[in-house]
Amino acid sequence: MDHTLLAFVNLFLFCSCLASPPNFVLLFADDLGFGDLGCYGHPSSLTPNLDRLASGGLRFTDFYCTSPVCSPSRASLLTGRYQTRSGIYPGVLYPGSIGGLPLNETTIAEVLKPMGYATAAMGKWHLGFGANGMYLPTNQGFDQYLGIPYSHDMGPCRNLTCFPPDVKCFGLCDVGGVTVPLMHNDVIKQQPVNFLDLERAYSDFATNFITVSAKKKQPFFLYYPSHHTHYPQYAGPGAAGRSLRGPYGDALLEFDTTVGNLLATLEQTGVINNTLVFFTSDNGPELMRMSRGGNSGPLKCGKGTTYEGGMREPAIAFWPGTIRPGVTHELASTLDILPTMARLAGAKLPQVQLDGVDMTEILVNHGQGKRKAMMFYPTDPSEMYGLFALRLEKYKAHFYTRGATHSGTTPDKDCDIFSVLKPHDPPLIFDLEADPSEKYPLSLVIRPDLQDLLDRILKVKDQFEASMVFGESQIGKGSDRDLEPCCTPQCSPKPSCCQC
Ligand SMILES: *[C@@H]1O[C@H](CO)[C@@H](O)[C@H](O)[C@H]1NC(C)=O
Ligand SMILES: *[C@@H]1O[C@H](CO)[C@@H](O)[C@H](O)[C@H]1NC(C)=O
Repeated sequence: MDHTLLAFVNLFLFCSCLASPPNFVLLFADDLGFGDLGCYGHPSSLTPNLDRLASGGLRFTDFYCTSPVCSPSRASLLTGRYQTRSGIYPGVLYPGSIGGLPLNETTIAEVLKPMGYATAAMGKWHLGFGANGMYLPTNQGFDQYLGIPYSHDMGPCRNLTCFPPDVKCFGLCDVGGVTVPLMHNDVIKQQPVNFLDLERAYSDFATNFITVSAKKKQPFFLYYPSHHTHYPQYAGPGAAGRSLRGPYGDALLEFDTTVGNLLATLEQTGVINNTLVFFTSDNGPELMRMSRGGNSGPLKCGKGTTYEGGMREPAIAFWPGTIRPGVTHELASTLDILPTMARLAGAKLPQVQLDGVDMTEILVNHGQGKRKAMMFYPTDPSEMYGLFALRLEKYKAHFYTRGATHSGTTPDKDCDIFSVLKPHDPPLIFDLEADPSEKYPLSLVIRPDLQDLLDRILKVKDQFEASMVFGESQIGKGSDRDLEPCCTPQCSPKPSCCQC
């Protein structure tokens, strides 16, 4: 039997032999860069639990999210589709946003529900709140939700202190709006949220969810998009002042501690060998925060840009007994998580145009992936400009480049906001294996053989763009102050009266 056929048969046997559908724990960090974890080379980060996932699981070197900012990246993760299709552009959603992830989009939770899964989300949602909380996770396939429905700087930063205690966090939050609420399902439990107790609340929620599901022998899906390590950094008593890396390191350590608690619960409930834990991040580091932002390691620029630092992320798949430890250089994306979980659960794929591909073969056999290309849209995608960049195999072509506020303060002038939109025709092409830092564009003049490569890239781009139907912009629908979550909706004067 040839190798491909053998791999296929192995995979078929594997998927049909799974005793019971596996559980899934999906961990999604915020603004965490390629260089931020100990297991990705950061010298002073303390991430013992994520490092343990990496050493006992499969670590990706070429894994991408779909947008250099939050909301669009989350939309793609949960739907397996580029954000342009679901309309989560331009930029991000706000507390009073009228739109949200359209309810007719199918999330991973909705894919798994028909297979009998218990589903829960905790942490930062950021896919809309809307009128009467219509876009909350409980309306998108999740049985339960505990968390803040958007970024934790989207409010006046009350109760947000750093180490040493009572010292206000670095910088400013949004002022003028309601204080940040903690939601349980669609009810506001606390406003403003107490950040110093928050991580403990998440750990308890997750422990309870896993324990109850395991006891019932019900397969489960836990989605944990963390507020860490988005600015402003904070950490509760267990982590504040305990890392080597200052406030950023403390926030990361606090997240890592929750990962450790989750692993311990999976072990204690006896389900760890039947659980796929997957970790990645929504976009690159917010370099404008200097040492309190993240780190993109050897990659160029960070959040807000379509350079590698904006969208290439750490990713780890951990499943003891099923995924062998190792490192993979296969190309993969957050888009591929939905099809992979569907495959492993034996669930049906949604009948829509998916951009994700099944990566089970990479996970289970350390085999070849099906993904050959990755598309890079800017924070404000449009049909007029189309793709800013495209990666095909090991090559990346930039059709447009632009810096971003989020990536300011770096010595590389291409990263900051003063680096305005620049078209490239022919595109700038980099060999990302020889030059992962995108420093040395290949020259068509010196290497005429690259014309074939360019033709192939342009063909993939044309085919992809012909298949792209932009959904109505949800963020373009604007905001309404009255939609901001308020625990005492009839009170006045707003927003200061919204306190519970
Ligand atoms: C959802 O509904 C909108 C408005 O009717 C439509 O344009 C869009 O294609 C639908 N999306 C899906 C995934 O069915
Ligand atoms: C998981 O599998 C390993 C290796 O086979 C075994 O040592 C361990 O006891 C199992 N853990 C549980 C909780 O079943």
